[in-house]
Amino acid sequence: MVEVLPIETPPLGDRSYLVHDGEAALVIDPQRDIDRVIALAADTGVRVTHVAETHVHNDYVTGGLALAQAADAAYLLNADDPVSFDRTPVREGDLVQIGRMQLRALATPGHTYSHLAYVVEADVVEAGDGVTRREIAGVFTGGSLLYGSTGRTDLLGPDATAALSHAQWASAHRLARELPDTAPVFPTHGFGSFCSATQSEATSSSTIGREKLTNPVLTQDERSYVESLLAGLDAWPAYYAHMAPANLAGPAAPDLSPPRPADAAELRRRIEAGEWVVDLRDRIAFAAGHVPGTFSFPLDNRFASYLGWLIPWGTPLTLLGDSPEQVARAQREVARIGIDRIAAAATGRPETWAGERAVASLRLAKFGDLAAAGGAAGGRPVVLDVRRRLEWAEGHIAGAVHIPLHELPGRVAELPPGEVWVHCESGYRSVVAASMLAARGRRVVGVNDDFANAAATGLAMERA
Ligand SMILES: [Fe+2]
Repeated sequence: MVEVLPIETPPLGDRSYLVHDGEAALVIDPQRDIDRVIALAADTGVRVTHVAETHVHNDYVTGGLALAQAADAAYLLNADDPVSFDRTPVREGDLVQIGRMQLRALATPGHTYSHLAYVVEADVVEAGDGVTRREIAGVFTGGSLLYGSTGRTDLLGPDATAALSHAQWASAHRLARELPDTAPVFPTHGFGSFCSATQSEATSSSTIGREKLTNPVLTQDERSYVESLLAGLDAWPAYYAHMAPANLAGPAAPDLSPPRPADAAELRRRIEAGEWVVDLRDRIAFAAGHVPGTFSFPLDNRFASYLGWLIPWGTPLTLLGDSPEQVARAQREVARIGIDRIAAAATGRPETWAGERAVASLRLAKFGDLAAAGGAAGGRPVVLDVRRRLEWAEGHIAGAVHIPLHELPGRVAELPPGEVWVHCESGYRSVVAASMLAARGRRVVGVNDDFANAAATGLAMERA
C-alpha cells in the first residue's frame, strides 16, 4: 500500500510530496527548508531513499540536493538538465525501483523543456481473490497538468513561450491518453503559485478522469487552449530569474539561525545606506506607527512573493517583527527563495526601533473616503492603482494612474505631484506601495478596502 503525503507551502502556492510504501520513501519537489520533510519522514517511520525533481524550478530554491545528501538518497533529475553536481540522471521511459514502488518518468515538456512527470505504481494484492494487481498510486505532474489549470509557459523567455505552450497541450493530452481515469494527480504548482498560468478553484485532490472533464487543456482544442493561455499570462515575480541558476548550481541547506539584533542607531544607519528594513507587522499596526523609511510587507501568504519581487536582488535585508517567532517565520520564507542572510532583526515596538526619532504614521482610508475626497477622473487627489495589468483591464477607477506594484520603484517620477491615494485589490499591495512612496517623501493615503466596494461609492469606473 502506497501512501502520498502532501507537504504544503501556501506562501509559494506549491506542494511537495512524501510518497512511501511503509519503509522506503520518495520525495518529490522538496522546498528548501527540508527540516519539515525530514520530520515528516521520521514521524511516518520511513526512510527517504529517493528525491526527484519534476523540473528545474523557477519559483523557489530547491531543497532536493541538500535532502538527498542528508538522507544519503538518490537524487533524480532529467539527464538533460545541465546541473553542476552529481545526480541520478533520468529520461523518458526510465523505471526506478523504490522499495516496493516503481517510478516511471514521462517527458512532459511545456512548463520547461525538460519537465518530467513521474508515475508511481505498486503491486496490490486484492483482499477477496488474492490476485495481485498493479495500481497507480499517483502521477506527479509538477508544472504540467495542474488542478483545472496548467503550469505557465513563459518562464524561459518570450522566444520560447509559443513552442512551450503547444508542448504543454500535447503533454497534458499524453498524460490523459496513457493513464487511466482513476489515476490520482498530484501537481506541484497551482495552489496560488505564480507558476500556474491561471489560479484554479480551491481543489485539494483530483484524478486524470476529473481533469479530462474540467481542465481547459483537456477540454479545448490546441489552438483555443494556447490562445487563452497566452492571453491570461501576467507578470511573474522578478526574483524568479535567480531561481534556476541557483538550482542548477546545487543549493545547500539554508542557515536558519537567528539574525543578529539591531538597535535603533543601527536601523537608522541601514535605512540611510539604502538598505531594506522591512516591517512584518500587519498593515493596521504599520499605519498606526512605524520607523520612517521602513517598508511594510506584512507576513502573510503574499509576503515572500512580493518582497522577492520588489527588493533589488542582493540588497541587505533587515526584519522588524512583533516577536522572534514572526522574524523566524519570515526568515524561513525568504530562505525558500534564496535570500539567505538576514542582515539584522529587531522585535518589539516601533517606538523602540525609532529610538530618539519620532514614529511615523500612515493614513488608511476606504474607497468611500476617496469618493468623498473627489478623487480621480483627472482631478485631485491623484489615485494610483498598483494592481497588475490584467486586473486593471478588467475595470478601474476612471482617471486613475496605473503603475503595477512591481514597476513602482522605477516609475515613481511618473506620478503627478501632490497627495497620492494608492489602492489595489484588497489593501496588501496598496500599503506596500504607500510605505515605499512615504519613504521617498510623498504625501500618501493607503486605501485599505476591497476593490469590489469601489463602484458602489460613486467613483466612476471604466474598462481598458
Ligand atoms: Fe515550476
